[in-house]
Amino acid sequence: MAKITYIQFDGAEHTIDVRNSLTVMEGAVKNNVPGIDADCGGACACATCHVYVDEAWREKTGTASAMEESMLDFAENVKENSRLSCQIKVSDALDGLIVRLPESQH
Ligand code: FES
Repeated sequence: MAKITYIQFDGAEHTIDVRNSLTVMEGAVKNNVPGIDADCGGACACATCHVYVDEAWREKTGTASAMEESMLDFAENVKENSRLSCQIKVSDALDGLIVRLPESQH
């Protein structure tokens, strides 16, 4: 279980306990966090689950796979800390994780 804080572009915060083995995207969708549409259902094929990982958490969330990188090319306003939240698996190690949503997703 990990407590994850999703911060909308307008500053609204949603802090949610997300079960291990779910993804950061699934934690948002199951709890109606706005801005993560996840149109492809987590297949790394839509980029509507784009988030910015808080700097302090970049190491623990790992790096994007080649497939994720190529899908991020379709996302808007991609930054160094951009990830597709459907590709980040939740574990105890991510307790306290903070992700921010891009302006285009609200
Ligand atoms: Fe489609 Fe993440 S849900 S790429």
